Amino acid sequence: GKYRVVSTKSMPGSRWIRLLTEQDCRVEICTETKTILSVDDILALIGDRCDGVIGQLTEDWGDVLFSALRRAGGTAFSNMAVGYNNVDVDAANKHGIAVGNTPGVLTETTAELAASLSLSAARRIVEADQFMRAGLYDGWLPHLFVGNLLKGQTVGVIGAGRIGSAYARMMIEGFKMNLIYYDLYQATRLEKFVTAYGEFLKANGEQPVTWKRASSMQEVLSEADVISLHPILDKTTYHLINKDSLALMKKEAILVNASRGPVIDEAALVEHLKANPMFRVGLDVFEDEPLMKPGLAEQKNAVVVPHIASASKWTREGMATLAALNVLGKIKGYPVWSDPNRIEPFLDESSPPPA
Ligand code: GLV
Ligand code: GLV
Repeated sequence: GKYRVVSTKSMPGSRWIRLLTEQDCRVEICTETKTILSVDDILALIGDRCDGVIGQLTEDWGDVLFSALRRAGGTAFSNMAVGYNNVDVDAANKHGIAVGNTPGVLTETTAELAASLSLSAARRIVEADQFMRAGLYDGWLPHLFVGNLLKGQTVGVIGAGRIGSAYARMMIEGFKMNLIYYDLYQATRLEKFVTAYGEFLKANGEQPVTWKRASSMQEVLSEADVISLHPILDKTTYHLINKDSLALMKKEAILVNASRGPVIDEAALVEHLKANPMFRVGLDVFEDEPLMKPGLAEQKNAVVVPHIASASKWTREGMATLAALNVLGKIKGYPVWSDPNRIEPFLDESSPPPA
């Protein structure tokens, strides 16, 4: 191969490797067995000659790595994730490195996981599973693991972009929930969907579903029964959910996070879970991954999974393919498929941002 492309991790499927090797690239996959690579590990991988890197969300891509990549003749960095809070895009731009991410292919998979967490929390699936395995089930009881009925309740979505909108549709169509959402942009397509579905239900003699665009996040927190967080992580969304915002939520609300851990002040959340046993949470992401804040693991009203929202076979192979295409596009001079500089994270695809 004419070009050297490095992947900091082995990635699912073989299509991504084939795409690169068919187009003059020699692919080198890091063989280091530790889960999270340090900046030094990655510097060693880049070496003296590297045209592009496919990296992971656990890595800190800033000035040090981008200047090393530039010195090695590189022009492309592709993050195998839709989120790019681990990437200093300004530093990349400064060193002339194009940055790609992997939106789209993970939308439905991530929304499905957020829906799974919502249902698991509502119906206390994990608690009940542990109860069974512990041999505690000694017969049906009217009070055993009573949870929340979603039908007719309100689902609240903070950040109605691709993933937030897909999640909202699942909860509305699947469970006939009403919608309240907060986003800087109007989710026109989502609103139209709820209106049309509401009319369909009404025509069939059922209670219609409704939607409302909240004028503040606080409005969503105080009105919704299930709240799912789908913003990007940046300075404006760090600790968006804190002691004060938790206090606004209903005592029996469910909170779901499959975006990024630091969007929630996790220590405040642990206190809130302790004080409010009927409040439940479903978490895919954590503030200090891979750690959980002290006390969280002991809370029965928390469902916790290890950052697996995009982990379906189809999606992970798609992310790897898209990450490879991003690097290839830059090296070969095609348009880079996806570029955080051009992404409007809160944007509903149907409505352009205000001029
Ligand atoms: C995963 O967390 C992603 O951003 O793709
Ligand atoms: C990302 O795909 C988003 O929903 O903003």
